[in-house]
Amino acid sequence: MFKAIKGMFSNDLAIDLGTANILVLVKGQGVVINEPSVVAVQIDKFGQEQILAVGQDAKNMIGKTHKNIKAIRPMRDGVIADFNITEMMIQHFIEKVHKRKKFYSPRIIICVPYGLTQVERKAVRESAQNAGARYVYLIEEPMAAAIGAGLPVQEPRGSLVVDIGGGTTEIGVISLGGLVISNSIRTAGDKLDAHIVDYINKNFNLLIGDRVAEEIKINIGTAIELEEELTIVVKGRDKVEGSLKSIEVTSQDIREAIKDPIADILEALKIILEQTPPDLAGDIVENGVVLTGGGALIRGLDKYLSEAIKLPVYIAENPLLAVALGTGKALDELDILQQVAYED
Ligand SMILES: Nc1ncnc2c1ncn2[C@@H]1O[C@H](COP(=O)(O)OP(=O)(O)OP(=O)(O)O)[C@@H](O)[C@H]1O
Ligand SMILES: [Mg+2]
Repeated sequence: MFKAIKGMFSNDLAIDLGTANILVLVKGQGVVINEPSVVAVQIDKFGQEQILAVGQDAKNMIGKTHKNIKAIRPMRDGVIADFNITEMMIQHFIEKVHKRKKFYSPRIIICVPYGLTQVERKAVRESAQNAGARYVYLIEEPMAAAIGAGLPVQEPRGSLVVDIGGGTTEIGVISLGGLVISNSIRTAGDKLDAHIVDYINKNFNLLIGDRVAEEIKINIGTAIELEEELTIVVKGRDKVEGSLKSIEVTSQDIREAIKDPIADILEALKIILEQTPPDLAGDIVENGVVLTGGGALIRGLDKYLSEAIKLPVYIAENPLLAVALGTGKALDELDILQQVAYED
């Protein structure tokens, strides 16, 4: 009973500020917002940007706008490409969650892309403060991913997590509440989409946009040969004739299209394995590697990596939510928070 009442008034938030998706979790309520990190802005007659839509509504406008409307992904490739729009997006979601509880100023913990500069982190922190946060904590993505995947981050034991998001793949070895070594590459879901666009362009003379490429990837993308290969019908514009047409694309095509970025992810993982101190390496040989982030859902990626590195590779139970859940857990458990969050 007491807990229920406390939950009602508790309004602390955990935010996974991803380059593809932003998730907001309210303490005691779980994930309340899970939307694409996209903002649609309209240029008014004074040349000022006005927000038209944020999240899913804005993503639906990508590639379908006219010259006065832009659908923007303000954080690309793991960096903040547009500070103003990023700030507006953070504030939009905080206010959406808090509109009925203006009186309370929450504690907010934000998981930021690993490669953010100090200036970018400061901007994120200030955006949350301006939206009414009492305290703002930041947490690094590999750490949040590992906590969310249920790895024993506080123990004197090596855990290896690979988080494949939209903009970046982050790989970290964690022990005793700290990142021992890590690597971040700008190859993840978006890069796969871009390679699919190029492949379809070159091999089928068909022009498609990023959103269609993402759909193809999710529907038939695979890192390995499948027992039963998949197909999908793709509509686009003929590069030569300019006419609209549809073609059939197979999972073999897409495997070929994405093989280079997939190999890059493997290389980054191998580099971390080579650098892992021997005692922690022993733990990893025993416990394996855990995949989080939307990219963990690419068909057969676990098997592909496992065969290449000769270690077990597991997919986290809920790869798209792992970072948000881990960020929320850090806020819940003060001892974790003190160990993993930083305030610079
Ligand atoms: N079933 C699926 N198969 C393959 N890829 C998927 C699937 N579902 C989602 N994705 C991809 O996962 C990516 C988004 O993952 P996620 O939400 O973890 O990224 P993010 O946290 O926003 O990005 P980052 O961590 O790089 O900042 C997108 O590129 C999306 O296309
Ligand atoms: Mg992420």
